[in-house]
Amino acid sequence: MPATRSIEVLATAADLFHAAAEEFVRLARTAIGAQGRFTVALAGGSTPKALYSLLASNYADFVWNRVFLFFGDERHVPPTDADSNYRMVEESLLGKIKPAIPAENVFRVAAENPDAAVAAADYEAQLRRFFEIKPGEFPRFDLILLGMGPDGHTASLFPDSAALEEQSRLVVANWVAKFNTHRITFTFPVLNRAAEVMFMVSGGDKGDMVHQVLEGKNTPPLPSQRVQPSDGRLLWMLDEAAAAKLAR
Ligand code: 6PG
Repeated sequence: MPATRSIEVLATAADLFHAAAEEFVRLARTAIGAQGRFTVALAGGSTPKALYSLLASNYADFVWNRVFLFFGDERHVPPTDADSNYRMVEESLLGKIKPAIPAENVFRVAAENPDAAVAAADYEAQLRRFFEIKPGEFPRFDLILLGMGPDGHTASLFPDSAALEEQSRLVVANWVAKFNTHRITFTFPVLNRAAEVMFMVSGGDKGDMVHQVLEGKNTPPLPSQRVQPSDGRLLWMLDEAAAAKLAR
């Protein structure tokens, strides 16, 4: 079944994050009600910090012990590094709700490993164990949060990078030439297996790329255009600034 695509445009960034928090909690309540747990892969970068802070402040008493947190990608740095997505999530969310979310519910990428490929393989093994994946199967997250870079990348799937072609691994170490570093990232088969993918994009600096990704025809398609859950919902949450170039 092709992905259904919804685009929600909120007046301001604050409205965007409130709407995203409500969607996160709505999905979590539904998943916990249906299967006793909620599995979510968090986005990195700076945009989602505000969502994570809002979840910590407005939903501190949520049933976090039924929530299982993963990372859609991670920089190849220790968890104490300023660039670490884990550190960002620890500071904006985990550190504020720690009594409510057991450590065993948080699946961190061991990105301190000097060998990024080993870190990726280890994370893939964690996913296979948790989701009880057989060879050839892919985990189905209840929700995968994503951001989009000004070049159209998402997670750490950058234009012209090798990971774009990966169709069998769940997690790979992707060499990102422009940053001269590896990143550890989910692959498209994992992103496209999700029950729901929610992009959050804020700010006018991304307006042109939002138009390109949502309304443009690109050959090859931009990485963010290739996120098309085969049996799930695709939701783009934008503020007016990011949506300004859309024909709509
Ligand atoms: C990362 C993210 C990346 C991010 C975009 C947007 O690790 O940086 O996974 O894909 O979502 O680069 O980043 P900003 O939200 O900082 O603009």
